[in-house]
Amino acid sequence: MKIVVGSDHGGFDLKEELRRRLTEEGHEVTDVGCHGERVDYPDIARDLCAVVNGGGVDFGILCCGTGIGIGIAANKIHGIRAALCTDCYSARMAKEHNNANVITFGGRTAGVEHVWEMVKAYMAAEHLGGTHAVRVEKIHALER
Ligand code: RB5
Repeated sequence: MKIVVGSDHGGFDLKEELRRRLTEEGHEVTDVGCHGERVDYPDIARDLCAVVNGGGVDFGILCCGTGIGIGIAANKIHGIRAALCTDCYSARMAKEHNNANVITFGGRTAGVEHVWEMVKAYMAAEHLGGTHAVRVEKIHALER
């Protein structure tokens, strides 16, 4: 898969580890930063979502301290459906029901192994379409 990752300083270690593991598994990973420096998470969300909306990747992963702020910022951008994942069921539903194109995680709230399981649960899932696709379209109708 083609995946774009990004984080602020609060999610940096987590983002680095996810990038390492995804690359090791043969995925093509683009990294929009940060590189360990202190940054404002809306800036990273903006840069990552531009890549997602550009259409060259399958999905994006954003990490901050909690996954909350960077997800709120991402969801301000048209076309983005960012889901904060805290368990594997939600990670699967984020794809099956919500067709999330960005998943977010907290580097200060979730362990790497747990996050890795959530990433795999999301990646193994397929969007179910049907009534779920109708609801996703209604989400985007709210942008207009
Ligand atoms: C940065 O200190 C922290 O506020 C940020 O990483 C995130 O947790 C915001 O939601």
